[in-house]
Amino acid sequence: MELLERLSSILAESREEYSKVKKVSFKEQERIGNGSNILAVGDNLEFMRFLADERDMSEKIQFIYIDPPFFSKLNYGSDIKLKYGDKKTIPAIKQLSYSDSWKDGIEAYLRMLCSRLLMMKELLTDDGLICVHLDWHASHYARIFMDAIFGEKNFVNEIVWQYKSGGSSKKRFSRKHDTLLLYSKSKDYKFNTLKEKSYNRGYKPYRFKGVKEYRDEAGWYTMVNMKDVWQIDMVGRTSAERTGYVTQKPESLLTRLIMACTDEGDLCADFFGGSGTMAAAAQKAGRSWIYCDIGVSAALNAQKRLILNESDFTIMFGDVDNGKCAFAAEVEEHVSSTSDNIVDVRISDCRPENLSSVPVGEADMAKIKRIIKDNSLQLLDYWSVDCNYDGILHTPQSFRMRDKAKAQCEEKMLCKKKGDISVRVADIFGNSAIKVLK
Ligand SMILES: C[S@@+](CC[C@H](N)C(=O)[O-])C[C@H]1O[C@@H](n2cnc3c(N)ncnc32)[C@H](O)[C@@H]1O
Repeated sequence: MELLERLSSILAESREEYSKVKKVSFKEQERIGNGSNILAVGDNLEFMRFLADERDMSEKIQFIYIDPPFFSKLNYGSDIKLKYGDKKTIPAIKQLSYSDSWKDGIEAYLRMLCSRLLMMKELLTDDGLICVHLDWHASHYARIFMDAIFGEKNFVNEIVWQYKSGGSSKKRFSRKHDTLLLYSKSKDYKFNTLKEKSYNRGYKPYRFKGVKEYRDEAGWYTMVNMKDVWQIDMVGRTSAERTGYVTQKPESLLTRLIMACTDEGDLCADFFGGSGTMAAAAQKAGRSWIYCDIGVSAALNAQKRLILNESDFTIMFGDVDNGKCAFAAEVEEHVSSTSDNIVDVRISDCRPENLSSVPVGEADMAKIKRIIKDNSLQLLDYWSVDCNYDGILHTPQSFRMRDKAKAQCEEKMLCKKKGDISVRVADIFGNSAIKVLK
């Protein structure tokens, strides 16, 4: 049957899926600072059900942004640099970050999206806005479903985000934009008008009565309400905000949306969070945030980025297939310590507990095995130490992160011991584990 004829059945099947979401309890694993925001690792449908049922979050989120897989039929991976052998050799291994290939085709993709949109509607405040970020592959179908779920009358904008990077073809115009669908839940939604420069024709002054004009190096302009076509560069190779996550979006894109759709202190959520761009932008703009991603390596990327951003958040794990990391850690007397309380915590081994679950190809697996034999600490990506472990939740005061350029992570940390010490370690694949060192 033609897809067009199947659309209403897809919506009905998505409603069915939404009404029967598995109940999963998301467990707190690590608290950074006061833990006020949430970084969740797990399937977003289960996580949203958890938020609504266990955290009483229905109608509590002011702005939801999602950048889901686009139905591109591709697998996305990133290169991780590793040193081995003579220590000068730094090969890269290709790690799968997430898959956007759908063996059951577009219907399965649309059901995945729609069941989640229904759940998002439940979490959105009555005056809230939702933004769905897609491209030419599926945005036309998503718009039909958004009309059906949120109501045609609640369509707010179709924003075109135009960029320069990516390939081109001689057989068509270069595809250089994504589509962001903005919908409200009611007609009384919150929206802050943003302004932008509009250059005068010929960059010359108009001198109209009552119109304020400005001038910069390009010429004369007025300030107008922002339009729905945005030219914003992709995150550059050398940009400070680059995390290495394959489909990372620019923070300035998210900042614009957040400033328009929320006020300071409002709660924003991104349920396909990737490298944490929305959370990072929300944090900088003084908003609270919720992040979720099913990929342990995406979540680890976001976690490191948000720690560097000085964010407070709680890390929660759902029923995700999160591999464990096997590691060895010990507490040593600090060499020059004059006080009994100053100790060194040292990591001496770090490897995925189960190599068969590591998302790399055969050739890369051989490199990993060799590295484990040589010096497994090269697989260490992140670790944190809580020197006053309360017996319940790992609440670290100190962190170490892998220096990507040097392909290494410091393996020793000084700490002022106040009680038991807990250590959480993650390897470069996002597998992690916690241990208490007595
Ligand atoms: C396009 S990326 C998001 C990129 C992100 N906006 C950024 O700036 O880094 C899509 C993300 O959705 C995640 N994802 C896919 N299916 C998911 C699901 N069911 N639950 C949670 N996350 C999911 C993938 O792991 C991937 O990281």
